[in-house]
Amino acid sequence: MQKDLLRLMRDPNLLPSEKQTLLSDIAAQAAAMDMPCYIVGGFVRDLLLNKPVNDLDVIVEGDAIKLGQELVKKYGGKLTTHQKFHTAIWYLPSTFTRSVHPSSLDLITARKETYQHPGALPAIKPSTIDDDLRRRDFTINAMAVRLDGDHFGELLDPLNGQADLEKGIVRVLHPRSFMDDPTRIFRAIRYEGRYSFALESSTLNLINPEALAVITRLSGERIRHELDLIFEEENSSRMILRAGSLGIFERIHPDLPMFDPAYSDYLNMDPILDIPTSRTAMGYMLWLMDLMEAGIMSIAERLDFTSDLRYSVWAVSQLKKSLPFLVNSKPSVWTYALEKLPELSVYVVYLVSREKALLDYLSMWRHVKPHTTGNDLKARGLPSGPRFGEVLSQLRAAWLDGEVSSEDEEGQLLIKLLK
Ligand code: CTP
Repeated sequence: MQKDLLRLMRDPNLLPSEKQTLLSDIAAQAAAMDMPCYIVGGFVRDLLLNKPVNDLDVIVEGDAIKLGQELVKKYGGKLTTHQKFHTAIWYLPSTFTRSVHPSSLDLITARKETYQHPGALPAIKPSTIDDDLRRRDFTINAMAVRLDGDHFGELLDPLNGQADLEKGIVRVLHPRSFMDDPTRIFRAIRYEGRYSFALESSTLNLINPEALAVITRLSGERIRHELDLIFEEENSSRMILRAGSLGIFERIHPDLPMFDPAYSDYLNMDPILDIPTSRTAMGYMLWLMDLMEAGIMSIAERLDFTSDLRYSVWAVSQLKKSLPFLVNSKPSVWTYALEKLPELSVYVVYLVSREKALLDYLSMWRHVKPHTTGNDLKARGLPSGPRFGEVLSQLRAAWLDGEVSSEDEEGQLLIKLLK
């Protein structure tokens, strides 16, 4: 086993050699300070699944802040510390290649956690790596690899996470896990969907009314963070449907609908053209677009949406409802109606309606502008005022609707408009 893990840690396809060096540097420093040092959580899980690893979460039995200070002395960079939590963030110096390295790294003191009441943020006190693994969400996330000195590459797996990884099972560590932290219900769904795993049967039974009730008490920000993470996943539709079938939505907000399976395929669709992408925004748009305005506003409030997100979702629902009134309109009418809306909202309505005018707007119409500018109008003696905008938009409409098709024709129209 040990040998296998060492092989995986040296595989540049799973862990780029620059990250391997970074880990060795940290390990050497921890060893010099006689500080047992581990890498935990998703790193170990993904490595054992033969998947490239992303996060490097470093845990020490000792003072993580002191380790951080020594690393900064030796390699440079900056440190921010949280004395209360005995943690530090090491912002790596620019000498490390940014494309391969994370820009920062969490250095954490092994800890024990207690929850004052269900759903509360935990109280923390320094402890051993064993306690630190036992405070975690699932067995597959409760493994560590030791880094310092001769211990490099030793696997710590007190809760048999490796066996569950092999069986493809998501299992909590104790029956109160979801009560303590109901965000773990969302996390369970994410791992289940991401790796095509199954929720172990007693774990599934723990997603019961008592645990679900605690979701109601979670802040909008915490819930939205979990939903955002779901929408970032490749299998997000499977996960969001699963969350609905487990009865989670009504605990978040009574008006939150089931996700319409007919929209599932669109979740993974990258916006075309030069529209800025956001998988999460598209997720919420598809999920909420068939609600009435009041429902959208109330859910946006509960989930602590940014004002941009709230507006984008509202825009999708309004546009979808007004499509029947716009069909067969001239391009200038479409453009006038669409240009106040976020482009991603227009794109989402295009996906679900396949209304060609929406695509024409996104690919062509929104870019159409007359040659004449405000300065030209000024030069022709038009006094500034609302008439400026009117003339320019009449010129634009003429281009959009094919009434002019050359600069010359635009000039003639301008003369007529200014008479
Ligand atoms: N963790 C936990 N309970 C939570 C959140 C996190 O026990 N509510 C622990 C898990 O051990 C997890 C680790 O903290 O592995 C790091 O959390 P995070 O970065 O969110 O998850 P990753 O394991 O890195 O997984 P992902 O690939 O989903 O980011």
